[in-house]
Amino acid sequence: MNVSDAIRNRRSIRKYIDYKIPDEDIYKILEAGMMAPSAKNTRPWEFVVLKSDNAKNKAAQIHPFAKHLKEASIGILVCANIENELVRQMGYYPQDCGAAIQNMLLESLELGYGSCWCGLYPLEERVKDFKKEFSLETIPVALVVIGKAEDKPSARGYFEESKVKYL
Ligand SMILES: Cc1cc2nc3c(=O)[nH]c(=O)nc-3n(C[C@H](O)[C@H](O)[C@H](O)COP(=O)(O)O)c2cc1C
Repeated sequence: MNVSDAIRNRRSIRKYIDYKIPDEDIYKILEAGMMAPSAKNTRPWEFVVLKSDNAKNKAAQIHPFAKHLKEASIGILVCANIENELVRQMGYYPQDCGAAIQNMLLESLELGYGSCWCGLYPLEERVKDFKKEFSLETIPVALVVIGKAEDKPSARGYFEESKVKYL
């Protein structure tokens, strides 16, 4: 699949079949995240891979809109480490993590998996709950759910001329 096709075919998947993603594919998905652009190349992201049923169920319990994680193969918490003063000063870490997340969604598709971006930051309560449950020192930005898709929603086109200005 080329990048253009991946971008146009990606959909959020919320139904998964029972399947265990092999570790080498998890590595590739994480690597794709870490290949994303980041402000001044600070790469402020950190990742917590939720593989066990226990970890997945805990996250699905806390997150009101990520119940599908229970049936998925893994969840990946994409977190921002803001210990670095430059990262804090610039304040670009949500975008940096967003770029990493999108890379992970596209890499998942390339590897034959479905995925779903489930938001955390900047919702204070949700961030607090995830920090507490998973003993995080970092800021959890999103929970990325990944697995073998059961449903295959069709691609949709979204080009909206009204959202573009040409100067
Ligand atoms: C910041 C962000 C937060 C999101 N949070 C959730 C979520 O909590 N649960 C969920 O099922 N989908 C979530 N989504 C997925 C969106 O609902 C989905 O991308 C949107 O409806 C468009 O559908 P598509 O991804 O299939 O194109 C989120 C997406 C983004 C970018």
